[in-house]
Amino acid sequence: MTDSVKNDERTEANEAQIAVHWKEEKYIEPPKSFVEQAILNDPGVRKRFDEKHFPDCFREYADMLTWFKPYTKVLDTSHPPFWKWFTGGKLNACYNCVDRHLDKYRNKAALIFVSEPEDDVPYAMTYQELYVRVNEMAALLKDYCGLKAGDRVTLHLPMTLDLPITMLACARLGVIHSQVFAGFSGQSCGQRIQDSGSHYLITIDAYWRSGKLLDHKANADIAVKTAEAAGQHVDKVLIWQRYPGKYSAKTPLVKGRDVFVNDVLKDYKGKRVEPAHMDAEAPLFLMYSSGTTGKPKGCQHRTGGYLAYVAGTSKWIQDIHPEDTYWCMADIGWITGHSYIVYGPLALAATSVIYEGTPTYPDVGRPWRIAERLGVNIFHTSPTAVRALRRLGENVPKMGPQKFKHMTTVGEPIEPKAWHWYFDQIGKGKAVIVDTWWQTENGGFLCSTIPALDKMKPGSAGPALPGIYPVILDDNGKELPKGSGIAGNMCIRNPWPGIIQTIWGDDQRFIDTYYRRFCKYPKSKDWRDWPYMSGDGAVDAPDGYYRILGRIDDVINVSGHRLGTKELENACLTVPEVSEAAVVPVVDEIRGKVPEVYVSVPASVTDRAAVAKKVIKACEDIIGKIARPSKVHVVPDMPKTRSGKIMRRVLASISNKRDIGDVTTLANPEVVEKIRVQVQGK
Ligand code: WT7
Repeated sequence: MTDSVKNDERTEANEAQIAVHWKEEKYIEPPKSFVEQAILNDPGVRKRFDEKHFPDCFREYADMLTWFKPYTKVLDTSHPPFWKWFTGGKLNACYNCVDRHLDKYRNKAALIFVSEPEDDVPYAMTYQELYVRVNEMAALLKDYCGLKAGDRVTLHLPMTLDLPITMLACARLGVIHSQVFAGFSGQSCGQRIQDSGSHYLITIDAYWRSGKLLDHKANADIAVKTAEAAGQHVDKVLIWQRYPGKYSAKTPLVKGRDVFVNDVLKDYKGKRVEPAHMDAEAPLFLMYSSGTTGKPKGCQHRTGGYLAYVAGTSKWIQDIHPEDTYWCMADIGWITGHSYIVYGPLALAATSVIYEGTPTYPDVGRPWRIAERLGVNIFHTSPTAVRALRRLGENVPKMGPQKFKHMTTVGEPIEPKAWHWYFDQIGKGKAVIVDTWWQTENGGFLCSTIPALDKMKPGSAGPALPGIYPVILDDNGKELPKGSGIAGNMCIRNPWPGIIQTIWGDDQRFIDTYYRRFCKYPKSKDWRDWPYMSGDGAVDAPDGYYRILGRIDDVINVSGHRLGTKELENACLTVPEVSEAAVVPVVDEIRGKVPEVYVSVPASVTDRAAVAKKVIKACEDIIGKIARPSKVHVVPDMPKTRSGKIMRRVLASISNKRDIGDVTTLANPEVVEKIRVQVQGK
């Protein structure tokens, strides 16, 4: 990593090293009670999925699905790096998640909705009822909106049942859904409407969050305005109602544009829509994710490969049996929710829990009360949530005798202290833990222990999943020896079914972002010449367990969610007084990393507090509350190289109270001490 550490523009390599400062921990055996009931308990699986059996090994995942027409080829590599999976095959994702379970599980709960107000009784929606609702919604999308396979629709929905119903209705028609996390601002949503070319926005009037019924329809107005300003016309805004039959927002409807889904649905009562026979390679959905430039990337996931990969990994790594009650506390607005709340679990006929609100509302005991009430036995959350619940609720044992057999963490490295608390207090030593490493682009898990077969090692994501062959490359693309313990670029040597097809509308960016740097022979049609670059740093221990160090590009991982530094900086620069902006990641006890902002203003600007306020508001309005900077430092000037580049590394060192290093070669070394005193005090 030497180059990236030296490179002025990169800050994350050394951040990562700091974030993961713990030493190798001892192994912990998976609890016997778990192993005895585990789905995947055949140690032969690694052999079946070794390189000799690639890519045919992935038939095992594809065979977990129901195909209308069998595929003829497992992997087509004729146009690298645009891999094609299960070509010739036809299937429907909605059919696989709903229809095919009816014979056996018609009146078993598919989804259980828990609303934030605790007095509301949880509502269990059976597979039959889900089938009815999805069909009616699909009929509406088809006949009322005129949507057809390949069209895109933007969803800006919170965690209510309307979201999976809408997603599955789209999938039934082959319409590509693009769900935007409800916590993102109207402007963010509008930008994604424009990029995806959606003519419809599907939203909700209101939802509960931390005790407040938020007016969400207000965001739709901003979203449409933003999209239209960027040249994308929105025909209609379809509004679900949090309380059907009642409008719970204050923002008035726009005549001719806004309609209530529940009103229109009346015309589609009892309607059924045949699931479209989609090509395995037809796009299923877009999921926007932050990258190193200002513009979010529309990660385009395919139908067959994606669904096969999430079904396979939900079964083997999450160990989901149809009898289990599974709760993933993520939001469906992120990839974790798409893969491991909706598509993976439902493909397996699981019962998947959807909780509307904040985990710590009204108090930290809420998740455990929900788990207890519903009999959740598989629990999936992020290290940030574990840390927050731990800090606020050391006394968990008193909070409920919930019995988990399996617990997952995802999104960031989990430090051993938090891991042990999760294992001892929440799992009561009886639940196996998997620390799953992957990304929006990957569709599903890439590294994790296989819960019944591998020992756990706190603080380490574990070995690669079956059929995934990682390699750690140094900055010159040279392979680091296996088990070297040296940090480098985490890459995957081979294609796998869950990888995105491309970035929506931008094939070149897809190549440039993930493949260009380490592809030695761009003309090669051999997948071995096309390692996938994850953008994460990692070390590989002698036992083959990977420890993920974090991003080595200009992306900050906050509470397990990606924020592009450029996106944030662009938001800061919309404040008229701001001449320059730099965003740096700062280590935070609970959230992993948080963004701190430095902005420089001309000497004539004297009210710095006012500027700081405007900067915070700009980040919230343009990106969303999740992007709220933890601090804004208004400084007279930025430390710069002689060529004029802002030295983010220096600012990051100041914010993280680390050694600043040699700054004598800067164009303006004297400003560094001024900023240090301003931030840290004398
Ligand atoms: C980034 C991807 C898809 C998961 C949700 C976040 C970090 C993810 C782990 C883990 C250490 C992790 C990486 C990755 N990350 N899982 N188990 N241990 N780091 O998806 O928003 O696409 O972010 O999250 O840095 O690149 P995402």
